[in-house]
Amino acid sequence: MRSTRAGRQRPDPSGLSPDASCERTRNLPRPRRQPGERVGERGLEISGRRRACGQGLGLRLHLARLSGGPVAAAPSSEYTRRMDRHDEALSRAFDQQAPLFERSPVQSDQAALARLVTFAGLPAGAHVLDAGCGPGLVAEAFLSAGHRVTGVDLSAEMVARARVRCARFGDRGSFSQGRVQDLPAAAVHDAAVSRFVLHHVRDPVDFLAAQVARVRPGGVVVASDHAADPEPGRARWHGEIEVARDVTHVRNLSAGELVDAFARVGLAAIRLVEEPLELDFDEWFDRGTPRASKDEVRRMLLAGRARGFEPVPRPDGRITIRLVRALVRGERAA
Ligand SMILES: C[S@@+](CC[C@H](N)C(=O)[O-])C[C@H]1O[C@@H](n2cnc3c(N)ncnc32)[C@H](O)[C@@H]1O
Repeated sequence: MRSTRAGRQRPDPSGLSPDASCERTRNLPRPRRQPGERVGERGLEISGRRRACGQGLGLRLHLARLSGGPVAAAPSSEYTRRMDRHDEALSRAFDQQAPLFERSPVQSDQAALARLVTFAGLPAGAHVLDAGCGPGLVAEAFLSAGHRVTGVDLSAEMVARARVRCARFGDRGSFSQGRVQDLPAAAVHDAAVSRFVLHHVRDPVDFLAAQVARVRPGGVVVASDHAADPEPGRARWHGEIEVARDVTHVRNLSAGELVDAFARVGLAAIRLVEEPLELDFDEWFDRGTPRASKDEVRRMLLAGRARGFEPVPRPDGRITIRLVRALVRGERAA
């Protein structure tokens, strides 16, 4: 069970944890149009139900424009209009985060992407579902290794970037805007992969089950995500900072919870690998969708530490955050 803003208790849909919260994406203030900005200019003006992504949105939008502006000609779509509030907030947030996300050193780290491909251990020419494909960095790595990739993402801007990034692979790569759980339930893929998506979904077990259902018997499911501290108090401290920096963040699972989630959706031969990962605080904050100011998030960060979320102040005054990335692989029964 977990607390809502109103103090009521309601069950965690994943059943994995007591304290995940999706309430944060509700009741957000509407963003004001920036001076001189025209309707639709942000790629945010999707419908009358437009929602904000928290304080600092204007700065994020400004940064996004500075970094090249939207690739999608029209990020709004009928699909976006039919999303629920959480997915709608995710879609809008990632439309805005896309340019900086795509260039982020952590996301575009080629060695880490190569390790993910190796860890997946797929047969040659496998058909991979990239669940929450973002700007196509993961897809590009699997395509470069000779696989076929179908990518799906809630964010139209992310999908547009994935198409551009992976255009050189021709029809081996295809990308569409959508929700993984809404894909046709045909078990046509040899594998499903998601990187840094699980902490954004309200029900990680449901998200993984949707991938299992779309992978053939004997196929592979792989997830990679930042892992939380297994100690609930430290995990809660970490989670509060993540949410202050990104309103679409739901909850990081611990490595053990990730393995449990894989077992719960019926996957077998489960393997877990952890690897260290370092973030620069400023780079990380600046591409987020915050609800608190940067100073406030910095103060929160320096007030504690957790396994998988350890601030290390540097002599230049900046802060490194040491994370733990978990890679989990399971196989669907043949
Ligand atoms: C942090 S980004 C990671 C992108 C990409 N996997 C990568 O690692 O480069 C998370 C992405 O997941 C997408 N996403 C979240 N929930 C989703 C869902 N249920 N179906 C499809 N996409 C989803 C978001 O729109 C966002 O682009």
